[in-house]
Amino acid sequence: MQKKLYIGTNTKMYKTIRQTVAFLDELGSLTRDIDRNLLELFVIPSYTALDAAARTAQAQAITLGAQNMSWEDEGQFTGEVSPLMLEETGVRLVCIGHSERRHIFGEDDEVENKKVLAALRHHFTPLLCVGETASQKELGIQNEVLRSQLKVGLHDTSPEQARHIWIAYEPVWAIGVGGTPAGVMYASRMYTVIRQTLREIYGGEAGDRIPILYGGSVNNMNARELIQAPDIDGLFIGRSAWDADNFSRIIHDLVDICLIK
Ligand code: PGA
Repeated sequence: MQKKLYIGTNTKMYKTIRQTVAFLDELGSLTRDIDRNLLELFVIPSYTALDAAARTAQAQAITLGAQNMSWEDEGQFTGEVSPLMLEETGVRLVCIGHSERRHIFGEDDEVENKKVLAALRHHFTPLLCVGETASQKELGIQNEVLRSQLKVGLHDTSPEQARHIWIAYEPVWAIGVGGTPAGVMYASRMYTVIRQTLREIYGGEAGDRIPILYGGSVNNMNARELIQAPDIDGLFIGRSAWDADNFSRIIHDLVDICLIK
């Protein structure tokens, strides 16, 4: 059976409410020809756009996600957004532990774990991002870093809950302006480490079912190559996806290649 392909974007701190809705509309019509049983297409816009975006996303068969979430339901936590608030918006996915959250805003694996557990409690799909920094890679401890990010981040989750968990491998050195995309060989080795760790945590069957996505400077040139590794299920794209037309070109390309893979 054809494996489902996961492709999505996080628009970070770009796109206003109006721009987000227009983007979803355009992306939806440009990808309408693709069977959504084969493609899980998701967009993760800013919090303020979620409410307005929900209707358009649903009409366009695009899964909507939030970029972050508090692990508390309510309380004196100025500036935080609660899972209860997200429930009202129609969000299905919550991005947890994006490298910018970890490295600019100082979130650690224990915090990500609390968020993963809260997301599952509220029936969201947590998209847990993991990835080593450049200096961790230089030290040769990338396997250990990934293993501990997964073991701590997913602590206390069950194989049953694992059905709702997605993982993004996003090496910190590959992300954003100035990032260098990971080579396919290197990325493949890291997917294998991630897959083995997921099997250890949940057992073979549940561990094998979890989608692993790659993110970090994906573009029109390297997307095809990056999707070819056996353990990869999709791509999580930043800059190259923010123009709907370009994003749709990447998506069509990937769908074509996966259908013949
Ligand atoms: P990028 O962002 O594709 O612009 O490198 C990826 C990400 O941050 O998920």
